[in-house]
Amino acid sequence: MLHERAQAKVNLYLHVGGRRADGYHALQSLVCFTDAGDELQFESASDLRLELEGPFGAVLGYTPDNLVLRAARALVQAAGRPLGARIRLIKVLPVASGIGGGSADAAAALRGLSRLWQLKLEPAQLEHIALELGSDVPVCLLSQPAEMSGRGEQVDKVEGLPQLPMLLVNPRVAVSTASVFRHLGRRADDPAPKAPAWPGLLTAGELVEWLKDTRNDMEDAARSIAPVIGKVLVQLERSGALITRMCGSGATCYGLFADAASCAGAAQAIASVQPGWWVYPTRIAGRF
Ligand code: C5P
Repeated sequence: MLHERAQAKVNLYLHVGGRRADGYHALQSLVCFTDAGDELQFESASDLRLELEGPFGAVLGYTPDNLVLRAARALVQAAGRPLGARIRLIKVLPVASGIGGGSADAAAALRGLSRLWQLKLEPAQLEHIALELGSDVPVCLLSQPAEMSGRGEQVDKVEGLPQLPMLLVNPRVAVSTASVFRHLGRRADDPAPKAPAWPGLLTAGELVEWLKDTRNDMEDAARSIAPVIGKVLVQLERSGALITRMCGSGATCYGLFADAASCAGAAQAIASVQPGWWVYPTRIAGRF
């Protein structure tokens, strides 16, 4: 049996520009990956089958347009011959939560099934299939820190991000990305400021100061749909985060912390006040 991790994606900043001719918005984002993630298992089979497990498996529910199945079908089509697999998705990440769970699952399916079926697709072909599945799937295919631009198709690997402790908090309210895009108001269409020491090693302090000059342009629209996001940000601020911000289209938010002990303490404090929330202490990745 083959395994793949589908790691949660965090947009450390997310600047949303104007709408392009193809209807998508031009984005600028610094993305990192964390050790929070779903797991996918793959076995050879005569046809395509998907089983859902894990704490959020039932929430996701089975539909034929599940991104993992769509990824599998796209690969079968690219291979040009009938192929089957039994795929088990152990869903640990909250659904529709702004940390790219579905996109990471689709990307993990592309990686895992390419290995299972021994497909030798060109990287560009795999990236093309990934983009057809969703704007965040190409960066999730890489699953390493990257600057992302275009609608998501431009992915440039980034080295040297400090591995600061990070706390992810989701209030267990699903937010649809498409509806946040529809609610976007006017935004400053300016380029994100350049990092002070880029490319190269940033200190923790430099990273935090730089991030303070950036934004998540989806926050206002997401908060109008799910006001509880404001409460999550306040809880993170009160718990001593150096910086707090909403992830992607929400409702998950992140806080960065000076050390692992203060991150763990904040996780405990928030979980005790809000036992229904999903609270996950991790750090800015590297690889896991
Ligand atoms: O590409 P994906 O399927 O993930 O997009 C989900 C929704 O977000 C779509 O409604 C799309 O129009 C919108 N979107 C956008 N600009 C992007 C990415 C997504 O308008 N760069």
